[in-house]
Amino acid sequence: MILITGILGQLGFDLAKELKKRGKEFIAPSLEELELTTEAGAKNFILEKKPDTVIHCAAYTAVDKAESEQELALTVNGFGTRWVAEACREVDAKMIYISTDYVFGGDGHTPYEINDEKKPVNVYGRSKLLGEDAVTAILEKHFIVRTSWVFGINGNNFIKTMLRLAETRNKLNVVNDQIGSPTYTVDLAKLLADMAATEKYGTYHASNEGFCSWAEFAREIFKQAGLEVEVDGIPTLEYPTPARRPFNSRLSKKSLDEAGFNRLPEWQDAVKRYLVELNTAKAH
Ligand SMILES: NC(=O)c1ccc[n+]([C@@H]2O[C@H](COP(=O)([O-])OP(=O)(O)OC[C@H]3O[C@@H](n4cnc5c(N)ncnc54)[C@H](OP(=O)(O)O)[C@@H]3O)[C@@H](O)[C@H]2O)c1
Repeated sequence: MILITGILGQLGFDLAKELKKRGKEFIAPSLEELELTTEAGAKNFILEKKPDTVIHCAAYTAVDKAESEQELALTVNGFGTRWVAEACREVDAKMIYISTDYVFGGDGHTPYEINDEKKPVNVYGRSKLLGEDAVTAILEKHFIVRTSWVFGINGNNFIKTMLRLAETRNKLNVVNDQIGSPTYTVDLAKLLADMAATEKYGTYHASNEGFCSWAEFAREIFKQAGLEVEVDGIPTLEYPTPARRPFNSRLSKKSLDEAGFNRLPEWQDAVKRYLVELNTAKAH
């Protein structure tokens, strides 16, 4: 049986849907049943239910807020993940830990390989790296899956923000010097479900195919949504945020290829399917 943490988040929600579609048995604890700020809260549900696989999607994900809530972010993503990994070891479960491009420093212009130097530039990245280190140290049967720029139906994300801004604005400034890959949770969920059925442990990068800047991402959203919004690309310097972001978030998919897993579809195709999903949800 599979246990999913963070089922009310963007990724957990679509992962549950994917497993249901595949007829896979899974359990998904509520926040009361699995809470990552205490050891007992993080471990007890897993120890009691003894799943054979834990897909750990829950995390502290507020990147800017993490700068002022450092202790909470490090606890949830660092210690919380450590406790989940320890519980997995105790019940002999495999674990899939979802991590992030933000563990890298963002230098250069080429895609990061899985073993490139980790040099997070913000608290959130440091906290997720602590989680990676704990999983690696504690559990042999683990997957680390780094993803980036996530969007899904159940939560807030860049696409929803752009569509909301388009209701009142016809011109927007969007950062054009951070390059990465958007990731649709529906596509990532399929890969995670595939992985969970294997013993091909290791570290992987998983985002939709292709690279873009946030400004290019925004233009594609408006084009596909049929909205006349002009996007002016601006440098990060002109859009200060509490947390620094890496300029280069390109992720190499070499390890996915080598293990024989399917890459995710192109990001523009993912945006298209997501807009259909949003419109369908709105119509109901
Ligand atoms: N979003 C991105 O752009 C992005 C990029 C790279 C990697 N990732 C990683 O991908 C994974 C999924 O991200 P997502 O966008 O689906 O995240 P999300 O929508 O923010 O969902 C995170 C989930 O974790 C739960 N959670 C937060 N604090 C918790 C705690 N102390 N104890 C138990 N549960 C807690 C949240 O519950 P509440 O809502 O009730 O707080 C929520 O259900 C995360 O590991 C994230 O670090 C995300």
